[in-house]
Formats: sequence, structure tokens, C-alpha cells
Amino acid sequence: MKRTRIITLLASDHALDNVLIKGWVKTRRDAKDFSFIEVNDGSCLQNIQVVADQGLANFEAIKKLSTGSAIAVEGIMRPSPGKGQKWEVHAASAVIISVAGDDYPLQKKRHTDEFLRTISHLRPRTNKYGAAFRIRSKLSYAIHRFFQERGFAYIHTPILTGSDCEGAGELFQVTALNLENPPKTAGKIDYSQDFFGRPANLTVSGQLEAEMFALALGDVYTFGPTFRAENSNTSRHAAEFWMVEPEMAFCDLSDDMDLAETFVRHLVTYALDHCREDLSLFAEFVDKTLMDTLETVATKSFIRVPYTEALAILNRSGQHFNFEVSFGTDLQTEHERYLAETHFKQPVIIYDYPRTLKPFYMRVNDDGKTVAAMDVIVPRIGEIIGGSQREERLDVLKGRMAETGVPPKDLWWYLDSRRFGSVPHSGFGLGFERLIMLVTGISNIRDVIPFPRTPGNIEF
Ligand code: 4AD
Ligand code: MG
Repeated sequence: MKRTRIITLLASDHALDNVLIKGWVKTRRDAKDFSFIEVNDGSCLQNIQVVADQGLANFEAIKKLSTGSAIAVEGIMRPSPGKGQKWEVHAASAVIISVAGDDYPLQKKRHTDEFLRTISHLRPRTNKYGAAFRIRSKLSYAIHRFFQERGFAYIHTPILTGSDCEGAGELFQVTALNLENPPKTAGKIDYSQDFFGRPANLTVSGQLEAEMFALALGDVYTFGPTFRAENSNTSRHAAEFWMVEPEMAFCDLSDDMDLAETFVRHLVTYALDHCREDLSLFAEFVDKTLMDTLETVATKSFIRVPYTEALAILNRSGQHFNFEVSFGTDLQTEHERYLAETHFKQPVIIYDYPRTLKPFYMRVNDDGKTVAAMDVIVPRIGEIIGGSQREERLDVLKGRMAETGVPPKDLWWYLDSRRFGSVPHSGFGLGFERLIMLVTGISNIRDVIPFPRTPGNIEF
């Protein structure tokens, strides 16, 4: 007989004979002739209560079962007379699959997030992390569904890349050379002897390659890991994170902002509709304002303000910031959060940033001073999306490369796209972990990715 997952059993509207469940012991409570075992199999937040009675051949062993042990229970599912659960399973047999040692670290008490990070291999067994990673899975699916239903093609852009010029962040270099004794020519490392015959890196973004496919297939998206060696030890930056990057041909910045808004609101709505039970844990224990925030994101149109207007709002605010702002300064998280949390109290899209702040590929506006860039800013997180209309004019693009120090010879293929059938096109990147932070209320990026990679941390 195949096991039934607990999520399926708990959804049943009638009693069942012959059920088989397999899972792990969360807690156990003994009465005189019974043992009540809370079993969880990871399929949902709730446990199912198993009632084992003294008639079982291995009742004595069951009464000693430790938290974390694995069991298989066959029996019947009946309404539970006890409080807190609708159904319980009366065991006809309970096979102990394995016994967890009593040094199992996840005993009943609450643990800090910091401690749980040191046992990232076990933390998905806790209620909170189980819920977070089920939500992460559901939203991954929702992302694919969103784009596939709209006719976008999923493109697998490379993770190893020879272009190091997007300017999106610090690079991790990849090499097969012997670092103890690398080949050298005139004192310099000779990369012609390296695996690819030239330096290679882990990608910081799939955008430039995605653009090539947008200019062939029209509407495309990527969804994969990206890597940045920024040594910023913040709660919002990881060295390895997942990014979703749609790219659309024949679209301008306004279309791009429309897609970004629709996308974020769709994903938050999807979570509200499909992850209710798991979200309830976060609303109760992590962030009491979570449901209000999510309802706001799902239902309110995002406010759109040009960068210069955002500056004016900040300068009029009377608020003290650690960094002053004037035209040409980058908005810091403190500014972004002031705008989204205090001033507008909802998501904001800031657009038309100074050209000096932004990479070469963003389209120069008619004023010559700004580029058609946009960032989506949400409460608690700050920037969740960064995107732009791309510079489709070959001469302007070359000028911008010269201005920003990007060697055109490395990007000959990118320039080709502006020579053969160039069209206006736009796209953006959504930081997937930041989306999960928004949806769960979890405040540290280390706690929304299974095995976080941050400066000094690559255990597991
Ligand atoms: O704003 P970014 O750097 O944009 C790009 O990389 C563009 N190539 C995207 C595009 O237009 N196709 O990064 C996009 C998003 C940010 O808004 C943020 O949510 C997330 O990626 N992000 C990070 N998330 C976690 N850790 C980091 N170190 C991140 N850096 C960026
Ligand atoms: Mg950005």
C-alpha cells in the first residue's frame, strides 16, 4: 500500500479505513493505555495525531520514541474528540523505521534563526522553515505559470560566462588553473592556458543573453541562479541568489513597469490563494502586519514617480537620513524604505534615473541626463526589481560603452543585435529571495534560501 500524504488526509471530508502514513515524530504524549504521537511528513504545516494503544505488539518501544524518529502507521482515520485537530489515526500497526538519537537538536523549544542557520541541513524540519520552503516552491511554480500562460519562452542562459562587463556586481572568477602555480607570461597569469582559453566568471545576470533571445522569440524569461561577490554583509544580499529576468521585444519602459507591477501583484495574490496555511504561521509569529502588507501589494496600483520627484519628496520630508540625496546620488535602502513605508505606504516604482548611476545598456532619455531605468520598491525590503528599456541605437550604445569603460570587442555579439533588426525592448530582474522575504515577512535573506552563501559562509 502506498502512503498517503498528511495534507491529503487532513483535507478529507469523511473518515477513512486503511490509511498508511509515513513521517517523523514531532512530539509524543503518553496516557495510561495510549501514546498520542504527533506525526508530520513535511507535506503541510499541520501534524496528524496518531493514537497508539497498548494492544500494539511494539507498544513499549513506541512509548520510548524520540522526537525526530521516523515511523510508518497503518490504521483508520476517525474524527478526533480532542481539541486542535479534526482527524486522528488509530494505529493498527506502527512500524518504527528509525530512531533519532536523543541529541537531535530540534527538540520542542523555540530556536533562534541564528542557531538554525548553523544546522541548515535540519532546519527545514521546523515548522517555520518547512513553511518558508513550501512557499518558495509554490512561488517558483507560479513564476513559470505566469510567463508560460502569457506566451513567454523560458531561456536557460549560461552560468559560466566570458563576459564580465554587465557592471551589475563583483564577479566570482572561475578557473581550472592550478592556483598554487599558475602559468605566467611576462609576470602575468596566462589565461590562454586556462580551461576556456580566457578568463571566465560566474554570471551576475542572464540579461544580455536573454536580450538576444527576446530579439528572436519576442517575449522570454530566465529563472536561475546568479552570483555576486559583493562583500556586503547585509540582510538583503546573498552571494548566490535566484533571479527572474523577463525580456520583451517591441516594448518600452512603460510596458516594462506594467509587466513588473502585474507580475509582483500576481505572485502575492497567488501566495494568498495557495499558501494560506503556511502564511498563517508567519502572520502569527514573524510579522503581525504581514497580511495587511500582502493585501496592499495585491490590490493597490503601484505609484510611479520619476527619480527627481523621489528626491524632492525625500528632501521635503524633514526626515534625517545617513546619506544626503541630490541629483546623481544613488538612493540607499533608507530612502527607498522611507518612500515605500512612510510616505506612500505601498509599493512604488521609481524611474528615469541619472545616466551616471546606471549601466551602459539602459536607454538614454531625450533629456540626455537620465536613462529609462526603473526600480520597484516595496515596504520592508526596498528594491525588489531593477529593470530598464534597453538602448537599441547602435551609436548611442557604443557611446555609452565608451563612457562606462566597457570594451566593445568583448561584446561584439551584443552589438550585432543592434545592427541586425534592432528594436525597442525592455526587461527587468526580480530578486527571488527578496520576493520570498516580502511574502513571508522573514527579514534575513539567509533564511529564505536553503543553503545560504554569504561572505565567509559556504558550509553544507
Ligand atoms: O538591479 P539588478 O542588479 O539588475 C540586474 O541585474 C539586471 N540585469 C536585471 C535586468 O534588467 N534583467 O538586480 C535585479 C534584482 C534586484 O532588484 C534585487 O532584487 C536582486 O536582483 N538582487 C539581489 N538579491 C540578493 N542578493 C544580491 N546580492 C542581489 N543583488 C541583486
Ligand atoms: Mg538594481
